Amino acid sequence: AFRAIGAHHTLVYGDGTLVDTVYDEVGRARARYGGTVRRLSGQATEPERAGADETPADLVLALAPTGSPPAGGALPAEVGSELGAEVAGLGPEGFALARRGGVTVLLAAAPAGLLYGLFHLVRLGPAAFGADRPVEAHRPALRLRLVSHWDNLDVHPVMGQVERGYAGGSIFWRDGAPAGDPERIRAYARLLAACGMNAMTVNNVNVHGTATRLLTDRLDDVAAIADLVRPYGIRVHLSVNFAAPVSLGELPTADPLDERVRAWWAKAAGRLYEAIPDFGGFMVKADSEGQPGPYRYRRDHADGANMLADALAPFGGVVHWRAFVYNHRQDWRDRSTDRARAAYDHFTPLDGRFRDNVILQVKHGPIDFQVREPVSPVLTAMPNTRLALEVQATQEYTGQQRHVCYLGPYWSEVLRFAPWGPGRPTVASLVAGPADDGDGAPAGNGGGASAGGGGLVVVSNVGDDHYWTGHPLAQANLYAVGRLAWAPDLDPVAVLDEWIDLTFPASATGDPDSEPGAGSDGEPGIGSDGELGTEPDSGSDRKPDADRETLRGTLHALMDDSWRTYERYTAPLGVGFMVAPGHHYGPDVDGYEYSRWGTYHFADRDGVGVDRTRASGTGFTGQYPQPWSDRYESLADCPDNLLLFFHHVPYRHVLRSGATVVQHIYDTHFAGVDQVARMRRRWDRIGGSGLVDAALHARVADRLAEQQRCAEEWRDQVNTYFLRKSGVPDAHGRRIH
Ligand code: GCU
Repeated sequence: AFRAIGAHHTLVYGDGTLVDTVYDEVGRARARYGGTVRRLSGQATEPERAGADETPADLVLALAPTGSPPAGGALPAEVGSELGAEVAGLGPEGFALARRGGVTVLLAAAPAGLLYGLFHLVRLGPAAFGADRPVEAHRPALRLRLVSHWDNLDVHPVMGQVERGYAGGSIFWRDGAPAGDPERIRAYARLLAACGMNAMTVNNVNVHGTATRLLTDRLDDVAAIADLVRPYGIRVHLSVNFAAPVSLGELPTADPLDERVRAWWAKAAGRLYEAIPDFGGFMVKADSEGQPGPYRYRRDHADGANMLADALAPFGGVVHWRAFVYNHRQDWRDRSTDRARAAYDHFTPLDGRFRDNVILQVKHGPIDFQVREPVSPVLTAMPNTRLALEVQATQEYTGQQRHVCYLGPYWSEVLRFAPWGPGRPTVASLVAGPADDGDGAPAGNGGGASAGGGGLVVVSNVGDDHYWTGHPLAQANLYAVGRLAWAPDLDPVAVLDEWIDLTFPASATGDPDSEPGAGSDGEPGIGSDGELGTEPDSGSDRKPDADRETLRGTLHALMDDSWRTYERYTAPLGVGFMVAPGHHYGPDVDGYEYSRWGTYHFADRDGVGVDRTRASGTGFTGQYPQPWSDRYESLADCPDNLLLFFHHVPYRHVLRSGATVVQHIYDTHFAGVDQVARMRRRWDRIGGSGLVDAALHARVADRLAEQQRCAEEWRDQVNTYFLRKSGVPDAHGRRIH
C-alpha cells in the first residue's frame, strides 16, 4: 500500500497543516521505500524552487488555488487544467486524479482534499502508477462524518471506562485524567482520516461527574486532543450535560429560555473557541434515560437545542441533538404504548423549529441498534430539519466484538433504503441534504425544501486494545462506516476487500518469519502502533499471490455474511431484544419481557411478534410514507425479516419464503450455528501458515470459539423456548432440548 507511494519521486505543492501532513506521510513512506519527496509552497516563486537538477516528479500532489497554475512547471499543463476544472466543483474535501505520460497527478481545491486523495492513492496501490488513468473525481456524499465515543472520564461503576466498549479502556481518558498516550491519539486520527471520517466527540453522551467540567476547568484536556487530531482533519466535538450550569453549581436553573442560562452557554462557547478555534460543536442526549433536558422547565427539544445552537452560531459550531428519547417508564401490561413510536411522536411536531446549526441525530432504527430493524420513520418526516443518521459500530447488540459481525451490509441497506419507493430519495440523500447529494435534487419528502446535511454519526468501537477493536476483524466496521459515509453506494463486500488489502498487505502473507503481533520489520500492519498498510520487506519461497487469495478467501468466508449469520442464531424475524438485560450479551428470551423498557416480543402459546399495524395494533406503520406504510401493514407484503417487528402472528403462519414462522426459527438457529462452526474450521485451516501473524490468529481463534459457544447457547435457548411455547416439533426431528 504505502510502498506504492514511497517508491516515487513526489512533489507536494501547497500550504497548510493538512498539506504538511501529506508531506510528512509521503516522507515516511519515502524513508522506507526509497523515493524522493519535494515540497513547494504556494507562496514561493516557483521556477527557482523547483530546481532544474531535481529528479522530475512522477507523483504530484497539489493544491489548485484558483487562478494560479498548480505546482509551477512541475505539473503537465494539459493534465493540470483538466483536473483543475474538475476540482473546482468538488468542495473542500474532494479531489481529482489522473495518470498521464508516467506522471500521477492528484489535485484538490483545499488541503483536506489532498489528504483524502493521498489515502485514496494508498488504496489504489500500484494501480495508481501503471498505465494511464482517466480523470476520476471524488467527493464525500456526506459532509459531516463523526465518530461518537461513549468514553467516560471517570470509571462508571457499571459501564466502566467506555460505555458499551469492547476494546479495552479509553484512548482519551483514564480514571478521570487524560489517558496519557498522545501518539496513540495521533495514530487514531490518522486511522480515522484514512477511513474518511472528519469529526469526533471525545466523551460519552451520558455526561457524568468530571465530564461536565470539560466545558470549564478541564477545557485544556480537550484542546490537547484537538491539537493532536487536527493534522488529520478531525474536528473535536463535545458531549455536554444540558444541566451543566446547575451541576457545576453556577446557576439555580438550566431553563433554556432564561437569560442567565443563555449567557452562561454563550460564555462557555466563547471559551471553547478561544482554546479550540475549529471546535465542532455539542452533542446532547437530553430528557433520555435519566439525562437532564428542557422538559424539566416545561420547554421542548427545539427550545433546548436552539439555545445551545445560538451559543455556538457566532463561531460556526453545530448542535447534534439526539432523537433517542426514552424517559417514559412503560408498563408491560399496557399494549397501546409503543416505544417504536416515541422518537417520531416527540420530534416531528417540531420540524421547522430548529435553527440551521441544529442537527437532529436519529438512530437508524426506531428501537435501539438491534440486529434487524426497519429504518426510522423520523428520517422521512422532518423535511425542514437537518438530519443525521446514527449507527453503532460498537457491537452492543451484535456480539460485543467477541463475535465476527461485519456490519457494512446492514449500513449499506439502511443508506440505500428508499422510503418513498424506488427512484425516490434514499436515506443517504436525506442525511446528505440538497447541497451535498450531487445532483441538486431536493432531499426532503414530497419535494419540500430541506435544510439537509446532517451526515452520519457512528458510535465508536475503538479502545486501547492492541488491535484497536478487541476483535481484530471488527476494525472492518470502522473502515466500512467511513467509506460508506463517503460513498453510500459502494458495495460493502468490495469495501471489505479494500480493508483486507490495506490491513493484510501483500508480502506480509508470505513471511513465515514475522514476529508474533508484528510484521518482519516490527510494525504490525493491523496493530495500533503500526503503519496503515505497511508491509515487511522480506520475500519468501511461497507464491504470494496464492497465499493472498487464500487469506482473502478466508476473510470473506468469515465476514461477508457474518451479520446475517448473527441474525440467524439470535432474535428472529426482526423481533429484537432477546438479549440478557443490562450487559446485553448472550440470550435471555424473556429478559426484557416484563421490563419497563418497551422492548417486548409477546410470545404466547399461539404466536409471537408485536402488532404495530394501524388496523389492530399500535399504529406505528402509519408513521411511514407510502409505499412502506402499506407494505409493513400488510401481512402478505411485509418483508419476512421484519415480520415480527410489525405483526403478531401464529406460529404456523407461512412466511413469504414458504416456511412457517416456527420452522423458520428452528432452521435459522441450526443453520446459524453450523455457519459459525464452518467459520471456525476455515480460520483454523490458516493457523500456523504464516498468512497472518500468530498472535492475531490466536486472538481471532479464541473469539471464534467463544462465538460458537454463545451461538449454541442462543440456538438452544431460542429453539427450546419456542418448542415449549408452541408445542410444534421440528419438521426435521433435530434435537431441541
Ligand atoms: C443504548 C445503550 C446505552 C446508551 C444508549 C444511547 O440504550 O444501551 O448504553 O446510553 O443506547 O444511545 O444513548
